[in-house]
Amino acid sequence: MSALSRIKEPVDKEMAEFEAYFSKTMRSDIPLLNIILNYILRRKGKQMRPLLVFLTAKLNGNIAEPTFVAATCIELLHTASLVHDDVVDDAHERRGSLSINALWNSKIAVLLGDYLLSSGMHICVEKSRYDMLEIISEAVKSMSEGELLQIQKARKLNIKEEDYYKIIISKTAALLSACTACGARSTTEDPETIQLMKEFGENIGIAFQIRDDILDYEGTGLTGKTVGNDIKEKKITLPLIYALEQSPVSKKRQVLAIVKNKKKTKAEITEVINYVSDYGGIGYAELKMNQYRDKALAILDSYPESKVKESLREFVHYTTSRKK
Ligand code: IPE
Ligand code: IPE
Ligand code: MG
Ligand code: MG
Repeated sequence: MSALSRIKEPVDKEMAEFEAYFSKTMRSDIPLLNIILNYILRRKGKQMRPLLVFLTAKLNGNIAEPTFVAATCIELLHTASLVHDDVVDDAHERRGSLSINALWNSKIAVLLGDYLLSSGMHICVEKSRYDMLEIISEAVKSMSEGELLQIQKARKLNIKEEDYYKIIISKTAALLSACTACGARSTTEDPETIQLMKEFGENIGIAFQIRDDILDYEGTGLTGKTVGNDIKEKKITLPLIYALEQSPVSKKRQVLAIVKNKKKTKAEITEVINYVSDYGGIGYAELKMNQYRDKALAILDSYPESKVKESLREFVHYTTSRKK
């Protein structure tokens, strides 16, 4: 049994039901739109966000319709963000297939992303869950800010470790903390619990994005995304930030010249990947990632032992050890 299916066990039934819920939102009367929505539905991601919503909901009470509303809304927003992100990153592969911008074009991808984003928000409005809409819309705003800050930093290639955390908290951890906050909100009204769960999700989210950034260097062959795309797009992530700080100035200049160059050869990208690992960039990123993993685990420790808690513990470990 895969790690994720084991983690899912306490909410297996709900995750199966979610599937139907989610598919229902991915239908339209516009034939072109329907074709693309089907294309996306057939290439499911790991569905870690809905899983996190259900597990945190169950940790704090009894799952009911509001939990499904949150999970569906968030997975739609996540999907929208990936479709837009692949346009921004000029990425041609997603989930092991061609990205929407690669298979259709960027115009269609931008409009489709808008459609998914608004469909997600609409679900909360339809079900009058303005409390969730408040949490989620804040996350969406933060995601756009994070992506723009990233572009600003990529232009000047002057990103510091501090900036990096700011970017990933906005672009990734915000949505994961919306998962845990809404999950909790769907089963409890206690503000302290919701706040604690929000922090839990934020720490998972930071660790999650550091792992994603390491995977961009590692190339497990399982991510369904192109290795080295971050370097290609001048995205300076934690492994590279650290290596740049450690290496001699002459070497640093040489690497930055490659990163800056619009047209990079495969050999140059491999050179940067090797440089990062030679100067301990991967090891350092793992160290930092594990610190956030441990912060998340410490928050979980305040709960009594249960099957759901055990699953969430596994979820956190999976986040930082996953190969895809
Ligand atoms: C990818 O998220 C985007 C990031 C925030 C790094 P996932 O790795 O959860 O993507 P899917 O949904 O499984 O494809
Ligand atoms: C996460 O950053 C982007 C989103 C939050 C949508 P990345 O650009 O690293 O994500 P991937 O690697 O393309 O999935
Ligand atoms: Mg990307
Ligand atoms: Mg990435």
